[in-house]
Amino acid sequence: MSVAARFAEIHRRPPAGVWAAPGRVNLIGEHTDYNDGFVLPLALDRRTLVAAAPTEGLTTVRSSREAEPVTFTAATVVPGAVTGWAAYVAGVLWAFREAGLPVVDLDLLVEGDVPVGAGLSSSASLECAVAVALSELAHVGLDLTEVAHLARRAENEFVGAPTGGMDQMAAMHGVADRLVFLDTRTDHVELIPFALAAHDLRLLVIDTRAPHRLVDGQYGERRSDCAKAADLLGVPALRDATLAGVETLADERLRRRARHVVTEDERVLEVVGLLRGGADPRATGPLLSASHASMRDDFEITVPHVDVAATVAEEAGAHGARMTGGGFGGCVIALVDAGSGDRVAGAVTAAYAERGWDAPVVFDAVAADGAGRA
Ligand code: GLA
Repeated sequence: MSVAARFAEIHRRPPAGVWAAPGRVNLIGEHTDYNDGFVLPLALDRRTLVAAAPTEGLTTVRSSREAEPVTFTAATVVPGAVTGWAAYVAGVLWAFREAGLPVVDLDLLVEGDVPVGAGLSSSASLECAVAVALSELAHVGLDLTEVAHLARRAENEFVGAPTGGMDQMAAMHGVADRLVFLDTRTDHVELIPFALAAHDLRLLVIDTRAPHRLVDGQYGERRSDCAKAADLLGVPALRDATLAGVETLADERLRRRARHVVTEDERVLEVVGLLRGGADPRATGPLLSASHASMRDDFEITVPHVDVAATVAEEAGAHGARMTGGGFGGCVIALVDAGSGDRVAGAVTAAYAERGWDAPVVFDAVAADGAGRA
């Protein structure tokens, strides 16, 4: 049954509409967004759907993944009052209100196929789907970047996750067959062609299903290491640092953290340069693999499940492979010839079985459109 039909069954009236926002994978540019740097994600064809209708006095949120509805009032909800999955929804209404925008109470039904907890930004997709629904139903005219900012504010200040802005910008600005090249300092977006099929390529997403541990704490630690390094170097953000400058840092850990960010920004710009110039995307493979090595050795955010997936994918013929997203588990992406995708997926699955690990889930990343009416 469609989400609209299910909504009608529950509420005995149809929704005012159904809105959707995608998850994302980041091709390259990891942990650069909160350093004012560059990122290059794509919006996935996996989306969070929200059926919504305005109502009076009480917002009720239901999810096909959750047994119980959650209720709150748009005019009064504050951080801490709603926790768990519904905080991503309540946070958006709160962020609109905080920004001085009109809010309305809503009946909401959430559904979707973005894997949760896999590092594919299911949370940003939920925030953005709610934000586009609310901006239409409350008659607020916002551009894509303004919606992304409100969604990020929900994540940072209501949910309390200290993330950068990449995920919401990807969910809002994504376009089919394009990468979203984002300068996180200026929020300038350039869409970069990424027509994999025309080059007989596939981008595999290997969901390692590795247990996430300490993710929040570790993410925050990386952020503060980066801020400390920028401070010591006397630059506003690591985006402004040079490799030569970074190598002068006395603290070995800070030096490695900063080196990752500086070299990762360079790799993003190289990948963009290649693709903008119409190069065969295979040429980006070594940069993807170098990004993985940098996350493993300098930024130290990989875990054995992702290292094995990236290494085995390359050994089995991938042009490049790297962990994507915040780290400590989640997904690996592998750029493969269309004809060798199944062999690469099979090799990673076999390597996991040898180690007694649960099988990974492998699917194709298809660059799709960003948030809007479903
Ligand atoms: C998470 C955050 C993003 C970004 C990535 C790492 O996905 O939400 O803002 O920092 O990690 O690149």
